[in-house]
Amino acid sequence: MSVTLHGAGGDVTVDVTPGQSLYQAIAARDRGMITALCGGCCICGTCRVRILEGDSGPMGPDEAHLRRQLAITDPAIRLACQMRPVCGLRVDIIQPE
Ligand code: FES
Repeated sequence: MSVTLHGAGGDVTVDVTPGQSLYQAIAARDRGMITALCGGCCICGTCRVRILEGDSGPMGPDEAHLRRQLAITDPAIRLACQMRPVCGLRVDIIQPE
């Protein structure tokens, strides 16, 4: 399955293999494209993406817990390290400030 990353320089497509997180797929293409300070352990919240289109898949309890801790209320914001995309996904990578 492929996921489209929307960016100022144009859209880029990454392939996500079954069981792979969106963060792992992006990092496999280019580790510099996404910040993930905890390496995908669902601790830091730096791997945020904004869902522009498509099904981002179910949210697990770890992601829901960290979202509450970080006061992330926008349902379009997800943590790429916890996402197992379903189909037709197009996202913006949110760079931490
Ligand atoms: S990489 Fe740290 S929460 Fe996703």
